[in-house]
Amino acid sequence: MSSTIYQATCSAPVNIAVIKYWGKRDTSLILPTNDSLSVTLDQDHLRSVTTARADASFDGQDRLWLNGEEEVIKPDGRLRRCIDEMKKLRQAKEAKDASLPKLSEWAVRVCSENNFPTAAGLASSASGFAALIASLAALYELQPEVSTSELSRIARQGSGSACRSLFGGYVAWQGGEQASGQDSLAVEVAPQSHWPDLQALICVVSDAKKGTPSTAGMQRTVQTSPLLQHRIKDVVPQRMKDISAAIQNKDFDTFANITMADSNNFHACCLDTAPPIFYMNDVSRAIVQLTEELNRASEAEGKGKLAAYTYDAGPNAVLYAPKANMPTILQTIRHYFPNADFDDTFDLLGKGANASHR
Ligand code: PMV
Repeated sequence: MSSTIYQATCSAPVNIAVIKYWGKRDTSLILPTNDSLSVTLDQDHLRSVTTARADASFDGQDRLWLNGEEEVIKPDGRLRRCIDEMKKLRQAKEAKDASLPKLSEWAVRVCSENNFPTAAGLASSASGFAALIASLAALYELQPEVSTSELSRIARQGSGSACRSLFGGYVAWQGGEQASGQDSLAVEVAPQSHWPDLQALICVVSDAKKGTPSTAGMQRTVQTSPLLQHRIKDVVPQRMKDISAAIQNKDFDTFANITMADSNNFHACCLDTAPPIFYMNDVSRAIVQLTEELNRASEAEGKGKLAAYTYDAGPNAVLYAPKANMPTILQTIRHYFPNADFDDTFDLLGKGANASHR
């Protein structure tokens, strides 16, 4: 047995979509009903850190711990699929180079930690599966032969939105058309350095676990909402083009208009689901009204939009805004929500999953 330690640690940030993914056309491969686009946040506040280790002495079973608790790796589950796909890529590498240790045949032990509440509408599954794939890719030394987009295809099978967290900056998930899912992957729209002036403020309205998990919610919306069909066909395709152009042009007004409209359209589809799904609460709606009022006042002064709100499958608000607007936004929110604690909520946009050491 070799004395070399085969271990890698990677971290991955969360991403918050401005064009939302909601609905699967294939539930087992996780193929979406529409394209989506997100911004990856920085790693200082919301991240998953994952260590993967392979050793010939581990018994045959792969094992995984999330925040200190062991998770069952179900034979037909998403974790199993992701680990198997990564082992296949390693196997292909070993087949080309006989001198490589046969890590693909050894069991792995994976340990993952989130530095924020899991499953509270803060995209923990996105950072979690992205960090899992990034750490296995580093352990198996798959890059650069395997591209980040190819890895995103595997992360997607853990949690759809995870495919976008492998990149930093502005990222599109191209839903694809093929039944195999080969063309359903994430691509970089622009790196973080292209528009570093944009910042995100996360207002944690509640860190309780969400009522309707996204998988169950999506399924119900796909099965029952006529509005979702309109969203898929008539709304999202044009918005993807327009927001990509707004990012290229650093046009915050257009970016903000589309972001807010798409969040509202997504939550309208949730309301159009039978029985309806409510992710936003009264505080979420108060933040919408506050942002709309701030924007109205700013536009009345000829200054354009101040901020854009967006909400995922939970009540927490994410406000995107140019850096210069943040003090006004924070001051206003503090005025209306005097008990809010913002110590942990201010995030610059970040760089995507990365290997920290091996
Ligand atoms: O990847 P999931 O299953 O956690 O779904 C994410 C769904 C939203 O966060 C609401 C939208 C998105 O595109 O991230």
